[in-house]
Amino acid sequence: MLALASRQLLQRAALKRPLQSNIIRTQIRLNSQDKSSKSKATRSMSYGSPVTWKSVAVGGSIIVFTLGYLYKLKSDRQKQIDFNNKMTMGQADIKCLFDLVDTDGKKRTSEEFRGRWLLVYFGFTHCPDVCPEELEKLSEAIDRLHKEKFDITPLFITVDPQRDKPALMRKYLDEFSSKWIGLTGDDEQIGRTAKSFRVYYSPGPKDQDNDYIVDHTIISYLIGPKGQLMEYFGQTRTVDDVENLIKSHIMLYKD
Ligand code: NI
Repeated sequence: MLALASRQLLQRAALKRPLQSNIIRTQIRLNSQDKSSKSKATRSMSYGSPVTWKSVAVGGSIIVFTLGYLYKLKSDRQKQIDFNNKMTMGQADIKCLFDLVDTDGKKRTSEEFRGRWLLVYFGFTHCPDVCPEELEKLSEAIDRLHKEKFDITPLFITVDPQRDKPALMRKYLDEFSSKWIGLTGDDEQIGRTAKSFRVYYSPGPKDQDNDYIVDHTIISYLIGPKGQLMEYFGQTRTVDDVENLIKSHIMLYKD
């Protein structure tokens, strides 16, 4: 299942890449036309050179794409308001606050990440299906964003501090992407972190092998440079949604 899903994601990503290099190439072409005489540019336009018309089509589709996402952002903003209203009913706002250790055993606090865009996911390494699927999706989105020079740092915070020790988390996260910063701590530190992010988790009963499932909120948060919540992604979001919404937020962000 996972291999198939990742292959599909890769195929989709592969389909996108040539288009992007075309965009860059046409932009370069357009720039060099700007520098040369105007009449030359006009002439090639009126001759209907396929290159120029192609660039117009590509340019147009970028605009349509951007407008589409702006529109989506707007309707998402309403969803966000509803979400925030739900979250704030008798509860405090979501805050990105933590004081944990990473997979090298090094102390990491939320303060040191201020000024950076974060994608924060809560889960646990023994999760049978949901976490692997979500991590695969988010890793793919992060990969695409990094290829396009969008600076975003993915954080994985465990909801199973009893079992998720630094070395195990590193090994697990590397199966998805070495870019993930894994964070763990003691029960109290994890409890406080989950509370500030409004993430619910609860370990289930142990079986004969001492194995157990941790029930947890399946959500990832996009955190802005000031530590503010910018967006959240549930399970129904596709890799394209995650990629494009993060991109839109970063591009539209005003300090
Ligand atoms: Ni899970």
